[in-house]
Amino acid sequence: MTQILPASQQGIEHAARLLCQGQLVAIPTETVYGLAADARNPHAVARIFEAKERPSFNPLIVHVPDLETAEQIAVFPETARHLAERLWPGAMTLVLPLRPGSGISDLVTAGGDTIAIRVPAHPVAQKLLRQAAIPLAAPSANRSGRISPSRAEHVTDPNGGLHGRIAAVLDGGPCGVGLESTIIGWQGNDAVLLRPGGVEAETIEALLNQKLRRPHISIAANPSTTSTDQTTESGNDLPPGTPSAPGQLSSHYAPNAPLRINADAAQPGEVFIAFGPAIEGGLTLSHDRDLREAAATLFETLRRADRLGRPIAIAPIPDEGLGLAINDRLRRAAAPRD
Ligand code: TXA
Ligand code: MG
Repeated sequence: MTQILPASQQGIEHAARLLCQGQLVAIPTETVYGLAADARNPHAVARIFEAKERPSFNPLIVHVPDLETAEQIAVFPETARHLAERLWPGAMTLVLPLRPGSGISDLVTAGGDTIAIRVPAHPVAQKLLRQAAIPLAAPSANRSGRISPSRAEHVTDPNGGLHGRIAAVLDGGPCGVGLESTIIGWQGNDAVLLRPGGVEAETIEALLNQKLRRPHISIAANPSTTSTDQTTESGNDLPPGTPSAPGQLSSHYAPNAPLRINADAAQPGEVFIAFGPAIEGGLTLSHDRDLREAAATLFETLRRADRLGRPIAIAPIPDEGLGLAINDRLRRAAAPRD
């Protein structure tokens, strides 16, 4: 049985105890719910892959309460510290050299010499991290390839959720950002956008006074024709020197129903998701065409559309600001499946 814990002091203390014992607990963050385990405990981390049915041991993001703790685990170049000081706590993950002797399990880094690290802003995540006082490895708390959870009840959803597979869900309410974090890595001195996400690429570029490089990945260039070869998720087939780019499975974040993107109107039988006022019988990501609202409602709206049991068509979303991350998720959700 999976317990639902309230985000009270008691609930947080209980979640912290479970995590320290090596159990899995789904936790709220401002982006999406994470499936957390003690990042130093290989058995606990292995359970994450088991619960998610992840096809490969691709690396996980480690969550810590502050920059000071992050510096015990990763080595920060000047530019990385600059970003961390400005944007943490928040929806940005940095991929940095792993500090030797950090105690992080090899499974978290997939045996590599870099680590993805983030300081979440959600007050419940902050309290939990301080209470547990351990680094928490946490991918999104969904089964592999499915829509990420932006509410506690998505985590336990009988259709594709993790009910019965994890010890508990700490219920911190709906996630404010609603999309996963922006992931930044480094290639020499250049910062690379490994995954668009909850912090706009433009915000990071303004802080760095530099354009972010985009990794040269086949899926990014031509998502609809890439095979579902799982090895691409860990970047195994990239040219030497390219940082591994996350989330490269071509089909990902997928609803059950087929999804058609950049649709101007619904075809007969389709559920239409608008960006702007909803059409009759349809849904919208944001009535006012607000990208922040669209990001926050994206996964929830895909779930609602999916429950109607019909093919889904979704309107074009502007490819700027948070629209970059929304379109990235939509392309994956619409990609061919096995
Ligand atoms: O907002 C988020 O980032 C959420 C919340 C829970 O923090 N987490 C999340 O984790 O989205 P996940 O596992 O679903 O996505 C993390 C991505 C993966 O695609 C993984 O390949 C990549 O980060 N990643 C992790 N460590 C990496 C590393 N050392 N180098 C390159 N990519 C890495
Ligand atoms: Mg995920």
